Amino acid sequence: MSMDFTDQRLSYEKGELDQQSVPTSPFELFKAWMNEALAQKVQEPYAMSLATCGTDNKPSVRIVLLREITETGIVFYTNYESAKGQDIAENPNAEALFFLSLIHI
Ligand SMILES: Cc1cc2nc3c(=O)[nH]c(=O)nc-3n(C[C@H](O)[C@H](O)[C@H](O)COP(=O)(O)O)c2cc1C
Repeated sequence: MSMDFTDQRLSYEKGELDQQSVPTSPFELFKAWMNEALAQKVQEPYAMSLATCGTDNKPSVRIVLLREITETGIVFYTNYESAKGQDIAENPNAEALFFLSLIHI
């Protein structure tokens, strides 16, 4: 039996990204969003989906915790021997995705 989530969708039309008001550094904007998420008590906003792909060309994604936002990037901790560690050693391209379920009033 299928499961239909269509009626569960929230509206994402209230907030908008205005090019005039975004800071030059994407990390400044990211910090502002993270601060808003923390203020709104979003549960673990610093948990991120981390996608990697090694030379086998098979993408993998998992959750890791963001430890730090610096001037030039984001920091997470992991074991170099892990699958993600090996993927990144083979191919440094990776992608992080945060889902900050913010309320815009
Ligand atoms: C909420 C949450 C936070 C996690 N944080 C980390 C983390 O910071 N670093 C990490 O290596 N694994 C973390 N894990 C475990 C990873 O999701 C993953 O299962 C594990 O690192 C093995 O991944 P890999 O085999 O793809 O390398 C976390 C899992 C959860 C559910």
